[in-house]
Amino acid sequence: MYSVIILAAGKGSRLNLGYNKVFYEIKGKEILEYSVDYFLKDSAFSEIIVVTNDRDLNHVKELLAKKDVIITLGGITRQESVYNGLKKVNNKYVMIHDGARPFIDKKDIDNLKKEVKENACVLAKKIKESLAKTSFGNLKSYLNREEYCFLQTPQAFDTDKIFKAYELAKTHENTYTDDASLYMEELSETVKVIEGNELNIKLTTELDLRILEVVL
Ligand code: CTP
Ligand code: MG
Repeated sequence: MYSVIILAAGKGSRLNLGYNKVFYEIKGKEILEYSVDYFLKDSAFSEIIVVTNDRDLNHVKELLAKKDVIITLGGITRQESVYNGLKKVNNKYVMIHDGARPFIDKKDIDNLKKEVKENACVLAKKIKESLAKTSFGNLKSYLNREEYCFLQTPQAFDTDKIFKAYELAKTHENTYTDDASLYMEELSETVKVIEGNELNIKLTTELDLRILEVVL
């Protein structure tokens, strides 16, 4: 059995909707409901933990009122939100997923389920464009795109180990934007990379919205 933490405690500031982007509605369903519904339908997931914030708590409670999920509060950063979610987990394995990623491919989840029994694992996608180092001033250096990837979610872990990694990260205030990186750095452990579906995009900008309106 697996648990999943679905993160929805952000603000969606880059999308600038005036409300949290995970509540944007596409085809009669809010973004957050797509991933919640996916995991509800998969009987291997016995525990679905949705992480929200104070401001959105009432809305999330209403939206998910008829669904068998645990709702908990997150923190200022994604990292704090995950840590709060992890405190609720009871299964041996946990997947951590961005609520802002509504397009979930069954094949990706099946791959994670299998692999996590051996290794922590992360979905990733290949880079199509040329890659360079810059802070949008001058170009600093050329990077070989074959040596890099974009990390996606879900990411899957042994619960005790990822919890330990989060506790370690707290002691020296290192910050990360994803869980596999935190796990690798804090525990010096291997994380297996699994190529995921390209449509598993994280709703961040207007372009992502337009794509999701077509594919969902
Ligand atoms: N998230 C969270 N708690 C936070 C920040 C982010 O649970 N304190 C969640 C978001 O709700 C989202 C996921 O982490 O599902 C990925 O974060 P991101 O895409 O950065 O979402 P936001 O932080 O909401 O967006 P922005 O950075 O544009 O404000
Ligand atoms: Mg953010």
